[in-house]
Amino acid sequence: MTNRFPALRTRQTEAGVISQIEPVAVDDLSAGDVVVKTRYAGVNYKDCLSIHGQAKIIASFPRIAGIELVGEVLESASPEFQRGQWVLVHGFQTGIAFDGGFAACARVPAAHVHALPEGLTPHEVAILGVPGFTAAMALERFEALGLTPSDGPVAISGAAGAVGLMAVALFARAGWPSAAITRRMEHAPTLQAVGAGEVIDAAVLQQPQRPLEKARFAAAIDNVGGPMLSWLLRSLQDGGCLASVGNAAGNTYEGSVLPFIMRRVQVFGIMANAPWEQRHRLWTRLASDLKPDFDRLLPHVRHIRLEQLMDHARQQLDGQTSGRVLVAFED
Ligand SMILES: NC(=O)c1ccc[n+]([C@@H]2O[C@H](COP(=O)([O-])OP(=O)(O)OC[C@H]3O[C@@H](n4cnc5c(N)ncnc54)[C@H](OP(=O)(O)O)[C@@H]3O)[C@@H](O)[C@H]2O)c1
Repeated sequence: MTNRFPALRTRQTEAGVISQIEPVAVDDLSAGDVVVKTRYAGVNYKDCLSIHGQAKIIASFPRIAGIELVGEVLESASPEFQRGQWVLVHGFQTGIAFDGGFAACARVPAAHVHALPEGLTPHEVAILGVPGFTAAMALERFEALGLTPSDGPVAISGAAGAVGLMAVALFARAGWPSAAITRRMEHAPTLQAVGAGEVIDAAVLQQPQRPLEKARFAAAIDNVGGPMLSWLLRSLQDGGCLASVGNAAGNTYEGSVLPFIMRRVQVFGIMANAPWEQRHRLWTRLASDLKPDFDRLLPHVRHIRLEQLMDHARQQLDGQTSGRVLVAFED
């Protein structure tokens, strides 16, 4: 392919990290066997950090960020993929050490490409993307630890964000009662519409802190870190489990050992860059028993153009956005 197409390229300069839209050709992209016409690139918190140079995420410059994409194969040197096939790419350092989704075309190693799971449209796969996959990883781990919906509610922090919203939807689909925790109570009706049983104001953190809070959750998904993580640990019931997913409020937290030794609380971390076996299994589940009600999710999915991405990312880092955001490229 000789045509040039728009890409948001991130460079390291003496003045710092700069991202701008440039025309590029396929040969300018990092090496790969499969050329994909990008249809949707999910906008993740991590991408917002990397394109604004707010964290050291990109491994080498220049780089096209965007840790996930859904698109149609244009060319393939791999017998596993054919022209016209819809595919998904996420993880494997996409948008970090390999050029990613913030371009109208991507060139990707075949080993990073996932055929679209049966039972989901390309748009549905894009809506779920890394946030949905991450929430599914947490759910599967709770199941493996023996938790069931009858054990009690799952608390979900940063609930108005993409992972939070997907977690609310997926856990509702799996029959779990959930408590969505948000700093923005104006999102309470939205969260309830997507499946939250209860919505808790994150201002609960301003109340006097106790060594152990009322034991109210069987499980928790923390997208926020900091004082929220401490509060969730102190609010888990006996045998409760917490999935540490995100750090929107910071990387550190203060806590005591009491939740662990008085309530046998367990903590585990989630890293969405899962091995293939788990990817296949979870995408199959996302297309079947965990498939959320997309009609309820759609009002919270926003499409933006590549030209809007930098401004959007600034707002997302400032915690002013909500729901799932996709860069949509022309059909
Ligand atoms: N471990 C993994 O593999 C993995 C995968 C995906 C994402 N993540 C991480 O998970 C986190 C959430 O990702 P996302 O895609 O859902 O991001 P997002 O859409 O930007 O949502 C983040 C949410 O966190 C809350 N928040 C933001 N800034 C905050 C602050 N300063 N203090 C307290 N709460 C704040 C807000 O929710 P409310 O307004 O509702 O309070 C916001 O909507 C990020 O840290 C991301 O890097 C990790």
